[in-house]
Amino acid sequence: MKIVITRPIPEAGIEMLKQADHEVLVLPHDRPCTREELLAATTSPSAQGVLTMLTDKIDENFLQQRPGVKAIANYAVGYNNIDTAACQARNVCVSNTPDVLTDATAEVAWTLLMMAARRAGEGERMVRDNKWSGWGPMQLQGMSVLGQTIGIIGAGRIGTRVAQMGKGFGMRVLYVHRRENEAMAQLGAQRVELQELLKEADFVSIHVPLTADTRHLIGPKELHTMKKTAVLINTARGPVVDEAALVEAPKNKTIFAAGLDVYEEEPKIHPGLFALENVVMLPHIGSATVRARNEMSQLAAANLLAMLRGQRGKTQIV
Ligand code: DGY
Repeated sequence: MKIVITRPIPEAGIEMLKQADHEVLVLPHDRPCTREELLAATTSPSAQGVLTMLTDKIDENFLQQRPGVKAIANYAVGYNNIDTAACQARNVCVSNTPDVLTDATAEVAWTLLMMAARRAGEGERMVRDNKWSGWGPMQLQGMSVLGQTIGIIGAGRIGTRVAQMGKGFGMRVLYVHRRENEAMAQLGAQRVELQELLKEADFVSIHVPLTADTRHLIGPKELHTMKKTAVLINTARGPVVDEAALVEAPKNKTIFAAGLDVYEEEPKIHPGLFALENVVMLPHIGSATVRARNEMSQLAAANLLAMLRGQRGKTQIV
């Protein structure tokens, strides 16, 4: 059986697939593969497994052209790049990589939160550009974090971990989720409606998956509801926030700052964001630790092996 990995990933998972006596083709370019490259790599009917990146679109059109594909292991927790309904209808199994990247992604949410609150990006630019003239009593005053209120939109694994970290900062935690969350209850977190969270939180951190319901969940109205002193953090998926509207909020100081790891049309970024000193931007590195990426590679491989054997993958979705 042939397995196609659409981009180089850590060796651990590739080795597992090779050890299982599969022919493994790793597409060599360190960039998202094109549709043509993906189709070419999966031409042979023996190509039954594909290990995909979040940049690979697996839709009805692909499945129709490659009926030999039986299992897709996505190298990400988010799987909005995959039409799972179409996969299910064709009995194609799909898995993702939750849990192993929870801590890494929560750490990046906190990195952004601290950087945005304490104007660290701005300060670093000042120093690097040799524009710092020394300590000043009025210089770069940011927002305190300790004891403030954090609002978590989406209390899944990552949202919950971000909230737990917030407890270390003595924060009050509000959250929006479709149901009560036991781990959040243990933190003394309060489940509220989105509007209330936006009104009350000093820090709003987004952790919902991208679906039809969450696309542009945060738009002009929501941004206006936030406090002028609040900070918005997005480590989930770019399209959850209306990026054009987001440019206006920190620009017009209707929010204090934003910290972004994800964008609406990656790798394109709304040009208006570049000019804003109070927006911290990272290049989608939520899961980018050596440990998380290794474990993602192993989990994706284990899922693929199980699904191709007709067993249920550990973190199989459909
Ligand atoms: C994910 O896993 O969904 C992240 O966005 C990429 O690592």
